[in-house]
Amino acid sequence: MMQNTNQENTKQISRWHTFQTQDEINQAALNRILAAAQQAISERGSFSIVLAGGSTPKSVYALLKDVDADWSKWHIFHNDDRCLPVNDVERNSLMARTAWLDHVAIPAYQIHDIPAELGNVEGAKAYANTLAGVPIFDLVLLGLGEDGHTASLFPGQLVDNSADAVPVFDAPKPPANRITISQQRLSNAREVLFLVTGAGKQDAVNDWRNGVSIPATLITPKNGVDVYCYGVNI
Ligand code: 6PG
Repeated sequence: MMQNTNQENTKQISRWHTFQTQDEINQAALNRILAAAQQAISERGSFSIVLAGGSTPKSVYALLKDVDADWSKWHIFHNDDRCLPVNDVERNSLMARTAWLDHVAIPAYQIHDIPAELGNVEGAKAYANTLAGVPIFDLVLLGLGEDGHTASLFPGQLVDNSADAVPVFDAPKPPANRITISQQRLSNAREVLFLVTGAGKQDAVNDWRNGVSIPATLITPKNGVDVYCYGVNI
């Protein structure tokens, strides 16, 4: 099982929310993102959000496409990406651009894709440099894998927390080579929101709620995490 490296064993605070339809959870996630953005922009003049990959968040990103927000203040990061060519349909960065980012006026230099096309080692070094100047994230979005993984933090894989972004080898979810923000850096966030949908996640949710230390439990921001669920019993 996952081991922590140089991260104090902070116990995760989690708050669980269940929704009855896909539209409900999508709207709730949208409202939460926009509220976090409004607060960050009013208090600090900018909003940093770390996007989840996979398929779950795509419908929320599609709602963001149609929002009239102060996009000039938004700064976009990704919690992980797959080591594939830039325009590979499996890239998390391409999914977010297609669903949302290509349709709104966020300045290009404020969208920080993970350069996963460089390969996991070089790409992680480059992204760690990108993150070096970034203060605490305002909001981190995360998904949950059927095996309890989150971002590209997988069960049984030691993750080196000494860097903000790290290479992943032999990921059980293809492709094997990935880049992920470390659990310690993902935990350095004002708010963390997990989006969990579909019966396939039930076992991972049961483990999580029963205190099994799946990788999702490694995300331990001081304000706790919120878990929005649809299609799973809690
Ligand atoms: C990835 C994601 C990964 C994802 C979960 C859930 O690159 O695959 O970062 O952590 O969030 O595997 O994926 P789904 O949303 O597709 O179920």
